Amino acid sequence: MNMRLASGLTLAAALALPFVSGCASDSGDTTATPLTGNAAAGATVFSANCASCHGSDGKGTGTAPALTSASIQQKTDATLTATVTNGDGTMPAFGKSLSAQQIADVVAHVRTLGK
Ligand code: HEC
Repeated sequence: MNMRLASGLTLAAALALPFVSGCASDSGDTTATPLTGNAAAGATVFSANCASCHGSDGKGTGTAPALTSASIQQKTDATLTATVTNGDGTMPAFGKSLSAQQIADVVAHVRTLGK
C-alpha cells in the first residue's frame, strides 16, 4: 500500500516537472522579446472574449465601457496589456486564458477601434 502510494507520487512529480519547466521557459521568452500585436488576429480574439461585454464594435454595452473613447485610447499599450492580463474591477483577467501574443493582438485591435 505504501509502495503504491509512493510510486504514484513519483509518477505525478515526473509528469509535473517538465510541464512546469516548459511554462517557465515560455514566459521567459515573452518577457525577453517585445511582442508586436496583429490587429487582424486580435479581431478574432476580441469577438470571442471581449465583445460580449464591450460590444462587437467596442462601443460598450450596459455591462462594460466603450473602448473607442479618448480616455482609453490615450492609455499606453503597456497599460492596456496590463488591464487585459490582470483585469480591473469587474473586468476579468485574461492572463491565464490568452497567450501573451493573443493579448498583444487584441490590444492592437483595440487601437483600431479608436479610429
Ligand atoms: C465580463 C465582462 C467583460 C469582458 C468579457 C471584458 N471586459 Fe474589459 N472591461 C469590463 C468592465 C466592467 C470594465 C471597466 C472596469 C473598471 O473600470 O473598473 C472593463 C474595462 C476595460 C478596459 C479599460 C480599462 C481602463 O484602463 O479603463 C479595457 C482596455 C478593456 N476592458 C479591454 C477588454 C478586452 C481587450 C477584453 C477581451 C480580451 C475585455 N475587456 C473583456 C468588462 C469586461
